[in-house]
Amino acid sequence: MSYTFKEKIALWEWYDVPSVESTNDEIKKLPVFEKPVVISAVCQTKGRGRRGHIWQEKTGNLYFTFSLNIAVADLSRYVCLIGLSLAKTVQSLSSESVIKIKWPNDVFLNNKKISGILLENIKNDLWAIGIGVNIASSPEISNAVYQAGSLKENGIILDRTDFLRYYLKNFVEDLRLYQEKGFAPLKEQWLSLAMNLNKEITIRNENVEKTGVFLTLDDNGYLLLKTNKGTERIIAGDLFI
Ligand code: BTN
Repeated sequence: MSYTFKEKIALWEWYDVPSVESTNDEIKKLPVFEKPVVISAVCQTKGRGRRGHIWQEKTGNLYFTFSLNIAVADLSRYVCLIGLSLAKTVQSLSSESVIKIKWPNDVFLNNKKISGILLENIKNDLWAIGIGVNIASSPEISNAVYQAGSLKENGIILDRTDFLRYYLKNFVEDLRLYQEKGFAPLKEQWLSLAMNLNKEITIRNENVEKTGVFLTLDDNGYLLLKTNKGTERIIAGDLFI
């Protein structure tokens, strides 16, 4: 695969490719990570979602993966942070829309999911953060408990590469705030956009299903659920494949 260097965006050297199977797989093939890299693709033919789902290819949508060093102890907070910056990027493009984050990091615009995030380990503390954003069209979803939407159908018209630039710049600002002030201010921002906060929710993992009231996030970014057994801490273990 030949990569065309486009420009530097915030911390990352950005390469845009015409077509790949999955930008997450592509970034893992790079021999050495001396520098932070972001790879975007015009088409993604075998995009992967969480828990073995596929991530559909739709013309004009954004598919990208960037590399980031994350200490394991910080991982669950970063999972929230990455989604928060995404939600804030959408918010900055459409202040009148209703933007929500479904724990831990799915962004919803006017009640429809418009993006997905897949974190995968590359090696040691180096992570591939893959993000898909429905810029131009929404995939058909059957048997889903939610609907998919796109920025375009909500009147937000922009090129996929502009969204990429806005996102990475916003993410770096949030990262700096995290490094300077810790998780607390970002947690407050995350909670202000949380979907179903203080409401009854059901959390499903591979084998377990738990129902209770979504109380808050703890200082790790784990969800606190009030069930009939007390307050349970729900860890985002199923995010990391
Ligand atoms: C989800 O299930 O919500 C996560 C979807 C993640 C999709 C993105 S698109 C870019 C990157 N490459 C992939 O194969 N998956 C992620």
